Amino acid sequence: MSTVQHRIVPQHVAIIMDGNGRWANARGLPRTFGHRKGVETVRETVKAAGEAGVGFLTLFAFSSENWRRPEAEINELFGLLKAFIRRDLADLHRAGIRIRIIGDRVNLRDDIRSLLLEAEETTTNNTGMTLVIAFNYGSRDEIARAAARLAADVQAGRLDPSQIDASKLNDCLDTAGIPDPDLVIRTSGEERLSNFLLWQAAYAELMFVPDFWPDFTPALFDSVLERYAARDRRFGGLSAKAVAVGS
Ligand code: FPP
Repeated sequence: MSTVQHRIVPQHVAIIMDGNGRWANARGLPRTFGHRKGVETVRETVKAAGEAGVGFLTLFAFSSENWRRPEAEINELFGLLKAFIRRDLADLHRAGIRIRIIGDRVNLRDDIRSLLLEAEETTTNNTGMTLVIAFNYGSRDEIARAAARLAADVQAGRLDPSQIDASKLNDCLDTAGIPDPDLVIRTSGEERLSNFLLWQAAYAELMFVPDFWPDFTPALFDSVLERYAARDRRFGGLSAKAVAVGS
């Protein structure tokens, strides 16, 4: 208990929840079972993150590239998100969790769009952990949309090109107002970012765990947080230790 209270906790944890399909295949089950079990892991992880003192938890639920999957699987993933919001919104709200959705909503069906909006609006004044759900999200797409917004501002005479810097672009991203992730976790043993928070994760610590997402328990999450606390983050500078030795 005391170690949990005193260690450095990342303010923002982002997770690529990978391996649902392989988890199901390994049990001779359809891939959809893996996604359903994955939702249970989502619930446990949200709870564990809040208890650990994480301020922002971002979950990659559906990428802009996931449209390449079979229609039945896409429908299952959309159905699971809808069911999650319908069933869990009241509990999340009661727990003081604020919900933010990132990703392109323009091409989403009206029922999904209004449900996402309802989740955000219901929880907008909550002051507990922010749960960011990346849905129909892709980093390159997000950055391109941000660039288009800046270009529109320039065209309308509201912005001079010389004023465009990293901070201005940052403010046009879906994640505006959300601090950069300190820690990005990917389950299932794959070691890549797959178009997830490419801009925002510039200085994030990356952790790859071999377990499939449905097997990612709160105890495993805790061990990743423990490893994070032992990392030396330098942000392009020198570590405190190196400065002390060199001076
Ligand atoms: C990757 O596993 C996982 C996904 C593409 C979707 C993750 C979605 C959920 C856990 C459920 C819905 C989310 C919420 C927030 C309610 P994969 O299918 O790529 O696995 P594989 O690499 O083993 O095939």
